[in-house]
Amino acid sequence: IPPPYIGNYGFPPGRQVPMVTKNESWSFPKAFHLGVAGAAFQIEGAARAEGKGPSTWDVNMHRVPGFALDNSTGDITDNNYYMYKQDIARLAAMGINAYSFSIAWTRLFPFGSGPVNELGIAHYNDVIDTCIQYNITPMATLYHWDMPALLQNKYGGWLGEEIVEDFTEYARVAYSRFGDRVKHWFTINEPIVICTSQYPMPEGYWRNFSIPDIQQQFVCGRNILLAHAQAYRLGKSIVPDSSIAFKNNGGYKVPLTNSSADAEAVQRAWDFNEGWFADPVYLTGDWPSTVNDYVSSFLPPFTSQQKEVILGSSDLFAHDAYTAQFYMVPDAGIESCVANSSNPLYPSCANSTYTYGPAQGNWAIGPSADARAPWLHRATDWFPAFMSYINTTWPSPSIQITEFGFAEPFESSKTLLQDILWDPIRASYYHDYMEAILISLSEGINITAALAWSFVDNLEWNSGFSIRFGMQYVNFTEPSLERHYKASFFEYTNMYKMYVEQ
Ligand code: NOJ
Repeated sequence: IPPPYIGNYGFPPGRQVPMVTKNESWSFPKAFHLGVAGAAFQIEGAARAEGKGPSTWDVNMHRVPGFALDNSTGDITDNNYYMYKQDIARLAAMGINAYSFSIAWTRLFPFGSGPVNELGIAHYNDVIDTCIQYNITPMATLYHWDMPALLQNKYGGWLGEEIVEDFTEYARVAYSRFGDRVKHWFTINEPIVICTSQYPMPEGYWRNFSIPDIQQQFVCGRNILLAHAQAYRLGKSIVPDSSIAFKNNGGYKVPLTNSSADAEAVQRAWDFNEGWFADPVYLTGDWPSTVNDYVSSFLPPFTSQQKEVILGSSDLFAHDAYTAQFYMVPDAGIESCVANSSNPLYPSCANSTYTYGPAQGNWAIGPSADARAPWLHRATDWFPAFMSYINTTWPSPSIQITEFGFAEPFESSKTLLQDILWDPIRASYYHDYMEAILISLSEGINITAALAWSFVDNLEWNSGFSIRFGMQYVNFTEPSLERHYKASFFEYTNMYKMYVEQ
């Protein structure tokens, strides 16, 4: 029997044992919000409980066959309306210190406007109190896509100017009833998505991209900006010590080739996506000139008073940043981008493709590289550039990553719980992403929050339950709707614990 090697953990004598250490230039500040995000319609269920009125999503999922891929509805989903106490306790147990949830407009105002439903107020009061009890910072979003059905019917939801006053009134009630405890507010979630893929059809999505429909997208965008800005001003007067922003969204845009045409396509893509809402709020009170050129024939310009209200209507830059994308001119060339109803790229004339594959459904956000740019592989490859782009293009005191996450491919077809909970690709996504945030922080970018999407599997809009974004598995076939932590949740919080300042 050979003698044991003593004092060198089994390595042969003379062999160098590598020093395990941390990167000393990385850290999360003590005040950093390590959070998760969710949205009322996607998790609450209890669709008709305690006085809630119908949203367009409630109506459409029941009325339009195939509205969701799997014909699911929002009736039950995660039953979080009844299970929020357990859900919040499970976040606290993982070391989460911030919870971004949305308030369902139709729980506070079942008819969109008019009488306030006190049962809805009581519910969110308790959600907020439960967060505080667990030392979790509550962050509330006022509008996460669940338009009161009655307002959609009355004047077309975001297409009607009346929405500005109705939204402000809803915001007023929310700020005044919850603002003593909620200091972090988001007015509107992802306006680009609201206006480009949910309007103007009463069914809640675009039937086609005819020119009038595309023009309506900008009507929607105009009303959203005005509603956001007015609600921001009101929020600051009711809750002066609050921070308020809208949640912008989009991937980091990379030109597919180094041609100047692709570089210009990238710029148009910034203008017609992020810039559409960010330029007015952070830069000028008005749209980018490319957008202005396009809308001037059918929309009135903002008055100088409106511009004043819009400009500066945000305390931080809130961005849902999932991935990076390539942009390019369409194959048929820029000449093909004329106003015609068969060109879905009009008016921005920038084609895009996700950098990453594979992923489930049309969500190409996995960490395996696209053959055309193997260098663009992990979040560390694009995120720091993205943050410095935001920081220089739309300066603001801080940036919050209000959503980021990953739908593990094929997760829905797994049948053994042990395999579902082992989600290495999602875990790598969070691992890389947390490293990327640390890099940006070390470069002096003031990122103050990371809010992972999402803490449970939930109703992924038109994809139904077929796509799972959760860091917890939810067994939707059992009435118990039991939650189980997946490996990615541990990786996400481990990365934080390793690098948070002591
Ligand atoms: C953005 C949306 O805000 C959220 O509702 C959605 O589920 C996630 N991204 C994932 O698609």
